[in-house]
Amino acid sequence: MLKPNMNYGELKDSYLFFNISQKINKYLEDRPAAKLYRMGIGDVSLPLCDEVIKALHSAVDDQADPERFHGYMPECGAPFLRRAIADYYAKRDVLLSDDEVFVSSGASDELGDILDLFDRASTALVIEPAYPAYVDANIMAGRKIYHLPSGEENGFLPEPDGKVCADLIYICSPNNPTGAVFNRAKLKKWVDYANRNASVIIFDAAYEAFIEDNSLPHSIFEINGAKTCAIEICSLSKTAGFTGTRLGYTVIPKDLERNGMYLNDMWVRNRTTKTNGVSYIIQKGGAAVFTEEGQKQIKANIAFYKENAKILMHTLDKLGIKYYGGKNAPYVWMKCPYGMKSWEFFDCLLNSVQIIGTPGSGFESCGEGYFRFSSFGTRDDTVEAARRMMNFLKQ
Ligand code: MLT
Repeated sequence: MLKPNMNYGELKDSYLFFNISQKINKYLEDRPAAKLYRMGIGDVSLPLCDEVIKALHSAVDDQADPERFHGYMPECGAPFLRRAIADYYAKRDVLLSDDEVFVSSGASDELGDILDLFDRASTALVIEPAYPAYVDANIMAGRKIYHLPSGEENGFLPEPDGKVCADLIYICSPNNPTGAVFNRAKLKKWVDYANRNASVIIFDAAYEAFIEDNSLPHSIFEINGAKTCAIEICSLSKTAGFTGTRLGYTVIPKDLERNGMYLNDMWVRNRTTKTNGVSYIIQKGGAAVFTEEGQKQIKANIAFYKENAKILMHTLDKLGIKYYGGKNAPYVWMKCPYGMKSWEFFDCLLNSVQIIGTPGSGFESCGEGYFRFSSFGTRDDTVEAARRMMNFLKQ
């Protein structure tokens, strides 16, 4: 008899954001007219910027013209987009060849797919609180997971623990959900640790564009030694509003070798087998993000979300509630008031003031007692949610 992947039995019943949407659906079933203030999942509210829209339209027209029509795209990415991304890195003195950049359909797809490169017996270390897909993807593959909790005592930026030696190490900086960002010295410790132990760091840089402090690294490849121990996964979802459009990229240096195998070559082999590339139209839209005008426009959108974060932070300041993040990241990570647990606070905000956030315990157990707000909502909703929270929590 066919045996399914029994590792699925080890997963939590359902995925965090699915759980939340089910709770919301239930709430709306009972109160169909209710207006909700959505600051849960990090889904953007601003439309794509003009430069991207123009590029998308013109790419659609290309597809109508026999001279400019594109069929299958190169599996690892269109040369024009790989070049544009490599040039973007070069602005921070990270020199990549075009074939070290792989275009993907988004970071979350890639975070799961990349595990094909590693033996199932390899172990994974996840710095927590963490984006739940890191843990779930490794459970599905049957890997042993080491959980490295972090907290206020280390600013949610733990150092390598000499007692644990994992093969894969997940680092997300700026962090989802805490908003904490590794500085160069702290990141260097992880790079040295990975090189020493022949581990590979999976660096999730999905929120790099939100960094405003110039001294902080946007890419792990700004750190000496990272090209022999890291893979970077990035996305245009938050940077340029591509959550519904889907586009990301992955950097695998040519120097990254384990056991005589080069991971860049392996990924070429994987992509050429398992994908037929990302749509030409979407890649054209993505390339527009990296033009001078595109960068100007997406920065204006990011500044808009940062203003939302400020509105939320200002409210928490006035309420005397401790929080992290918000400055170099789109998430505000607050301590639940009155010693409430994360889901308790979720229910309380939803039922009393119709605000939706994300319970911290959904990012693993050390997130218990915390709550995450996303700043990607509309301005009106953010202002109203802040007003409601103020009135409700000051009582
Ligand atoms: C989040 O809210 O943590 C993210 O938007 C989820 C995602 O990127 O898949």
